[in-house]
Amino acid sequence: MARTHEGEDASFRRSQQRSDSLERGIRTSPASHLVLSGDRPTGDLHLGHLLGTLANRIRLQRLGVPLMLVIADYQVITDRDAVGPLRQRVRSLVADYLAAGVDPEHTAIFAHSAVPALNQLMLPFLSLVTDAELHRNPTVKAESSAADRPPSALLLTYPVHQAADILFCGATVVPVGRDQLPHLELTRVIVRRFNERYGAVFELPEALLSPVPVLLGTDGQKMSKSRGNAIALGADEDTTARLLRGAKTDSLRHITYEPRSRPEVASLLQIIASLGGRSPVEIATEIGGRGAGALKAMAAEVVNESLRPLRSRRRELLADPGYLDGVLIDGVAQANAIANETLQRVRVAMAMDYLG
Ligand code: TRP
Repeated sequence: MARTHEGEDASFRRSQQRSDSLERGIRTSPASHLVLSGDRPTGDLHLGHLLGTLANRIRLQRLGVPLMLVIADYQVITDRDAVGPLRQRVRSLVADYLAAGVDPEHTAIFAHSAVPALNQLMLPFLSLVTDAELHRNPTVKAESSAADRPPSALLLTYPVHQAADILFCGATVVPVGRDQLPHLELTRVIVRRFNERYGAVFELPEALLSPVPVLLGTDGQKMSKSRGNAIALGADEDTTARLLRGAKTDSLRHITYEPRSRPEVASLLQIIASLGGRSPVEIATEIGGRGAGALKAMAAEVVNESLRPLRSRRRELLADPGYLDGVLIDGVAQANAIANETLQRVRVAMAMDYLG
């Protein structure tokens, strides 16, 4: 066991070093990179996204890196029976993105289901990996065992679908958390095997490890769209205050910042700190003996205050669904042009272009 952990740590350190050097490369020449990232349209984005992945994407966009964001609608059914109210969820997701600062001039937003050639890439890619390799993927394993149903073959193969997302557009950079590193590794395996078999078609994408703080939800578990413990970006101020007032903390009166032993208190301090540009220790000292009630009240005030412009922009956007759909239609057109071109190169490389 210890050996495995040492091995994992060493490989993580190497990934971190590669990521650090990638970050320097991005700063020197942002326009020569392309970032791909995305979300499943299963619910509204929340504070955890805003302070984590979303902030990081917008940071990259502002550095001048072009971005592609995939709305992974086909991935909704990896672990459930139906796609849900997609029209409304997708508009809401696009509104979250734009309200948070995603700029459609620099970022193409598209959905899986509207880009057929992207999905077709899955077929050759599936032929390059084994069933055993897919079963070994830690995220797939974790998600299969957490599910209350037998895992579907779509769940098993979703890292290959993710490889298609990354490779169809030639993304060079994929922002990931540590738990997503194996997905990117699988994409790199697919690139190496494809190029070896059929000639150099794809570039190796790299992982940008983002130092994303894991925010806890109101129940003390990781904040998540599906757990019902999240503060949605679009929540109104009363709901936000009520949810934060009910957030789980601990029984110690005096507020201190101790992420290991007091994770729930630390997460609330982290939220206030990130939004207010101050350190969590400073805020803990300020609240001190006023206790968890004062901490939650401050969190509600800071969250509501800082999200006010985003929320008002979000409301305006949602009142104009034609505009939101237009952003998506533009993104889909860009994605289709790129995907068709990539699929054609793949068919030529594989000698499958026998009808032209
Ligand atoms: N699987 C991601 C999620 O559940 C969404 C996603 C789809 C993605 N394709 C991707 C993320 C490619 C990064 C790269 O949120």
